Amino acid sequence: MRIVCIGGGPAGLYFGLLMKKLHPEHSVTVVERNRPYDTFGWGVVFSDATMTSMRAWDPESAAEIETAFNHWDDIEVLFKGTRQRTTGHGFVGIGRKKLLNILQARCEALGVELKFETEVDSDADFPDADLVIASDGLGSKIRNRYADVFQPDLVVRPNRYIWLGTNKSFDAFTFDFRKTDHGWFQAHIYKFDDKTSTFIVETTEAAYEAHRLGEMSQDQSIAFCEDLFAEVLDGASLMTNARHLRGSAWLNFQRLICGKWSHFNGNSHVVLMGDAAHTAHFAIGSGTKLAIDDAIELANQFNKAGHGKDTIPSVLATYEEIRRVDVARIQNAARNAMEWFEVVGERYADTLEPEQFMYSMLTRSQRISHENLRLRDKTWLEGYERWFARKSGLDARENERCTPPMFTPYTVRGVTLPNRIVVSPMAMYSATDGLIDDFHMVHLGSRALGGAGLVFAEMTCVSPDARITPGCLGIWNDAQAEGWKRLVDFVHGAGDTKVGMQLGHAGRKGATKLAWDGIDQPLESGGWPLLSASALPYLKNSQVPKRAAEAGVDWLELHCAHGYLLSSFLSPLTNRREDEYGGSHENRARFPLEVFRAVRAAWPEDRPISVRLSCHDWFEGGNTPDDAAIFAEMFKAAGADLIDCSSGQVWKEEKPVYGRLFQTPFADKIRNEIRIPTIAVGAISEADHANSIIAAGRADLCAVARPHLADPAWALHEAAKIGLTSVPWPKQYRAGKYQYEANLARANAAPAAAK
Ligand SMILES: Cc1cc2nc3c(=O)[nH]c(=O)nc-3n(C[C@H](O)[C@H](O)[C@H](O)COP(=O)(O)OP(=O)(O)OC[C@H]3O[C@@H](n4cnc5c(N)ncnc54)[C@H](O)[C@@H]3O)c2cc1C
Ligand SMILES: Cc1cc2nc3c(=O)[nH]c(=O)nc-3n(C[C@H](O)[C@H](O)[C@H](O)COP(=O)(O)O)c2cc1C
Repeated sequence: MRIVCIGGGPAGLYFGLLMKKLHPEHSVTVVERNRPYDTFGWGVVFSDATMTSMRAWDPESAAEIETAFNHWDDIEVLFKGTRQRTTGHGFVGIGRKKLLNILQARCEALGVELKFETEVDSDADFPDADLVIASDGLGSKIRNRYADVFQPDLVVRPNRYIWLGTNKSFDAFTFDFRKTDHGWFQAHIYKFDDKTSTFIVETTEAAYEAHRLGEMSQDQSIAFCEDLFAEVLDGASLMTNARHLRGSAWLNFQRLICGKWSHFNGNSHVVLMGDAAHTAHFAIGSGTKLAIDDAIELANQFNKAGHGKDTIPSVLATYEEIRRVDVARIQNAARNAMEWFEVVGERYADTLEPEQFMYSMLTRSQRISHENLRLRDKTWLEGYERWFARKSGLDARENERCTPPMFTPYTVRGVTLPNRIVVSPMAMYSATDGLIDDFHMVHLGSRALGGAGLVFAEMTCVSPDARITPGCLGIWNDAQAEGWKRLVDFVHGAGDTKVGMQLGHAGRKGATKLAWDGIDQPLESGGWPLLSASALPYLKNSQVPKRAAEAGVDWLELHCAHGYLLSSFLSPLTNRREDEYGGSHENRARFPLEVFRAVRAAWPEDRPISVRLSCHDWFEGGNTPDDAAIFAEMFKAAGADLIDCSSGQVWKEEKPVYGRLFQTPFADKIRNEIRIPTIAVGAISEADHANSIIAAGRADLCAVARPHLADPAWALHEAAKIGLTSVPWPKQYRAGKYQYEANLARANAAPAAAK
């Protein structure tokens, strides 16, 4: 085959050398516009996994790279006068120049033709090539030539950054956060050889504008950064090697995804590789890794399918299929990390204390969890757990197993939850005339015995016509209040768990069948007239909280989510009113706030009220997390204690993006931007998730729904799984606790014994 790689970055060079090595009959040329020793950039970071595959594919270049590598384990964070350090993070860094020089030399040794100082305008310049690799970086001319085929989706991110270097060797991956009069700046600093470190400075567009950095020369920008980061630089100066960039060297990161990666141009097959195909933000330093992994996978597929021209189309298809998965995974993690740095100033830096700020930063990509941090640096994590436990009012002594964040108590108004796990409200469609019966006693009672700090019953309806189905619970008469009292008395008598009632009105989603007879399907007979955002905004509900209070309910939640009555006012998709109850945020929130205030006034002062919001309608034209934050602020002003951050179910055609902890970012945003406590909910299914969320300050409580259907004692079992024996079980069940813990301990010890 005749192979031409356009662009001699890591992707083009590594693919070129692999193909020549695997099949020396190939003619391979790498064409590069720069001179051999000319390159932008300072150091790049690699992962251990990429290094392992490089060792397997080309031990010669891997050995050279490894000798030039700098390895370091620690992360250090400078923030508000504190300097915190943790270890066990394992990075390897190398100068980009050094890496390229090693790859160039290896290409030459293997017989790859390297053509430097050659600008390529088109793949058509190589009509005799069977395979053209578009490894020409983010600005890829080749990709842009066939934009209709490759469908590049390029998103310019809001932050500004400048990529600098310094002749100071840092012994940890160092992050320094500094506040100016116009906002926060952060430096990402890592060494890549004995005496040089990469020094990337990043800030928001607003701070960049306010400091007029766009009007500064590179030298002026450097002087600005040297001044701002003088403490960490400790006398060292900053340097640029981007003199070729005209004007300001402050850039915006561009996130790239392509719809297709290969194309036949009539003579040659053209395929995208590395930054030409996709980008990953430097916050998790994976661009070079992805480029190298692409090169390895394409070479691997040729090796499997054979090195003949006829294999090219199928090899390219398989390459794209396999690489897309890995790239999407890294891009997701990179997106979380990138977004953390984009909002750090407005969301975390002025809100979180240094200890929690550090934890939040370490878990920013949401790929590193609480237990993962324990594996990396047990001492640091245990220190943090003690700090958190003390903040929550516990007496966390040194040298004792500390209570992890999810099992710390939480107090709001006069109510103290023994831990931060909530049984999320779940409609059971099993009531007659809205009454709590044996089913509810057993169902909710067993969950209360199962260790959660707060047990919510299902949405409880304020009037017969407020029900979703004829099987929903209600609180419109005294008999129902008596049922609640029986439940509350049982739960209070059994331990410290508290009982929550979620008050709701089905609105336009009412008068439907029981879930298992046809979810959201209207009743065939016995239905009732519906109220919705378009109906009269009046609800006689003040009796309701009084009944709940008299029954001893500890906590109320006002259901303003999932398309039910109050939610139908908040969402522009369902609220089409033109009076003062429709239109602006203020108008759409008017009725829900009126109801909230009426409920708050009738509810005892010392008991909390949370508000459940659909923080995302997942549909064009619907509410987004920014809208939810506006509503959260209004409920906060009206006296709400917490916002329970759910999403969706407002519009049938919604397109939610599900995934682990998929709604937690809403709780995080509202908690730290609006500064009101939040409940995270949605796909939180193990202790490690809950601990990570609460420890990082992304929410104050975690509501867990479906896992509690599978296991009433979810909280107790999760405690046992993480080896926490101090969480009390009901006294009647203690014998079960000891056996359960002993069995788990034995199962955990078994693999070690088998070794
Ligand atoms: C601030 C910053 C920090 C980063 N930090 C890291 C990090 O820590 N770790 C990491 O792994 N990655 C990092 N990256 C990303 C990394 O630089 C790229 O992801 C990686 O270099 C991609 O390799 P590539 O071969 O696909 O493209 P590139 O390295 O961009 O190579 C493309 C090559 O093609 C050449 N070229 C382009 N057009 C033409 C043309 N028309 N004719 C001839 N030649 C052409 C260019 O000169 C260049 O040499 C960082 C990026 C930035 C911006
Ligand atoms: C059977 C069932 C019934 C539900 N009923 C309600 C409800 O009455 N009120 C409510 O706000 N959410 C309700 N939900 C949503 C849950 O409270 C929770 O937000 C959702 O299931 C996501 O959490 P999970 O991933 O832990 O299940 C219900 C969920 C399930 C599975």
